[in-house]
Amino acid sequence: MLEEILKSLRLPVVVAPMFLVSGPEMVIAACKAGLIGSFPAPNARTAADFDGWMAEIKAAVGGAPWAANLVTHASNPRLAEDLALVAKHKPPLVITALGSPKPAIEVVHGYGGLVFADVTTVALARKAAAVGADGLVCVSAGAGGHTGQLSPFAFVSALRQFFPGPVCVGGGIADGAGVLGAVASGADLVYMGTRFIAAEESRAAPAYKAMLADSSLDDLLVSAAVTGTPASWLIPSLRAAGYNLENLASPAARNYGGDVQKRWKDVWSAGQGLHAVTATEPLAVIADRLVAEYDDARAALDARSALFRRLPV
Ligand SMILES: Cc1cc2nc3c(=O)[nH]c(=O)nc-3n(C[C@H](O)[C@H](O)[C@H](O)COP(=O)(O)O)c2cc1C
Repeated sequence: MLEEILKSLRLPVVVAPMFLVSGPEMVIAACKAGLIGSFPAPNARTAADFDGWMAEIKAAVGGAPWAANLVTHASNPRLAEDLALVAKHKPPLVITALGSPKPAIEVVHGYGGLVFADVTTVALARKAAAVGADGLVCVSAGAGGHTGQLSPFAFVSALRQFFPGPVCVGGGIADGAGVLGAVASGADLVYMGTRFIAAEESRAAPAYKAMLADSSLDDLLVSAAVTGTPASWLIPSLRAAGYNLENLASPAARNYGGDVQKRWKDVWSAGQGLHAVTATEPLAVIADRLVAEYDDARAALDARSALFRRLPV
């Protein structure tokens, strides 16, 4: 199944699900560009919207692989309804986040789909594998959104000691050389979010896209102060929303109550791959560039590898 998916792609890249950013336009553009498109179910504000979005995507992408991202935590009041709609539309891939993949497995396996579990620690990866997740998504240090803390190299290597199935890795990977590095490290797929926030098909506000293009690695701050969970934020957007950067580490500055989801609208997230984003462009142009970069990186790697004495030249 994984091999079939990989053979249908131009690069092993999942355009990662992003709250308030990914909608059907982005998923369809990604699939048409030979990547795997995905979106978080909560971006569809009602179950009826979720139903409509999946119908639209299915009709537009034909048999290309795409993914729906479900919050499987018990606190999600729409989970049962969303799972019934998943059974109806049969996304080839379901990526679970913020909870065990268990509730999705029976439904998705029922129609022959795959369940990948988004994990940030080895303990969570072991739990997801134990309940039958087909694949693991290692959200590593440098990721946009709710970030992990492990090095992607260390994380993939540790998982490969006990998990032979598909592994997708994300966190600060934003160019073709990074994709090649991730594959070389043992991953099957790369989870790439930040690189696509400024795509024309993204739902991010124009000012967010512009801030991303104008910012550098030094403009990021990982803090739990905004949502209660460590996430990677654009410092200019924290300042604009009135956060005092000096106080962000203190519990008093934390802002866990109220409508956490609404806060993603006021404060903008990005991962450490943001330096690759320099302009708003069609997703297809970004995909073409990634393919060219990957090919260049492979040629450079072959040339460099030929220098080492113990490798065949
Ligand atoms: C703005 C933004 C919103 C995100 N929202 C979600 C989300 O709703 N669900 C989810 O599972 N991951 C979410 N993520 C995380 C991404 O799916 C992915 O793990 C991350 O973007 C990978 O790292 P990168 O941004 O460095 O490529 C979000 C990331 C960003 C940047």
